[in-house]
Amino acid sequence: MRTRRVVGNWKMNGALAGNAALLGDCASAFPYVSGSAAPGVEVAVCVPFPYLAQARDLLSGSAVRWGAQDVSIHTSGAYTGEVSAAMIADFGASFVIVGHSERRAHHCESSALVAAKAAAALSAGLTPIICLGETLEERETDMTEVVVGGQLSVCIEVLGHEHLAQCVIAYEPVWAIGTGHNATPDQVQSVHAFLRARLGPAGASVSLLYGGSVKASNAAELFAMPDVDGGLIGGASLKMADFEPICRAFG
Ligand code: 13P
Repeated sequence: MRTRRVVGNWKMNGALAGNAALLGDCASAFPYVSGSAAPGVEVAVCVPFPYLAQARDLLSGSAVRWGAQDVSIHTSGAYTGEVSAAMIADFGASFVIVGHSERRAHHCESSALVAAKAAAALSAGLTPIICLGETLEERETDMTEVVVGGQLSVCIEVLGHEHLAQCVIAYEPVWAIGTGHNATPDQVQSVHAFLRARLGPAGASVSLLYGGSVKASNAAELFAMPDVDGGLIGGASLKMADFEPICRAFG
């Protein structure tokens, strides 16, 4: 059974005052309803580290979960600037994004490091959201499956199928992130079907999210594809008027 999810990735945006309104609106839009069946869609926001306490304070008691955008592979010690998975879990977080293309590109993160970060998250009880995706040049040279397949293979080798089954995977083509040009539903479905097949037995339970210029106007057609279990939303997660309709865009 695959969980349908919409996760906001705030990236390096926010300030205490503005966050309070956004998180408050999020909590009111998706209240926790005691005793009801699991909601059809799980909504979460991944905030910058300094705002984890604020997310916990304002989202606790609602149906919205929260998480971080990166994690250390180390558990504790002399690693200045690093944040461990246990610290993130200490704030009641459920998720941590690992391997976002912005970290792969700007912080030279390898697939092996990304897989180790996912393992660190799992061992602290967090669900890693592992991001994969090709550049425009790689797509135009027909390398998409080689690239995303290679990124996934490293995770399979490091984590094994059993642990991978506890992860969320986000396909985020680099050329679609923040550009306003989303991949077409057919392009997304094709990569997701490829990834699901590669996941083997874990494919039955892993949520495969799509990320890259998802908006209220295109979410429904993307989420209607059979192997798309939801979205990882950047810019459109920063305003409730944009984010809420995306969270409600499942047929
Ligand atoms: P945009 O939705 O702003 O294109 O960002 C996507 C993304 O990178 C989510 O992680």
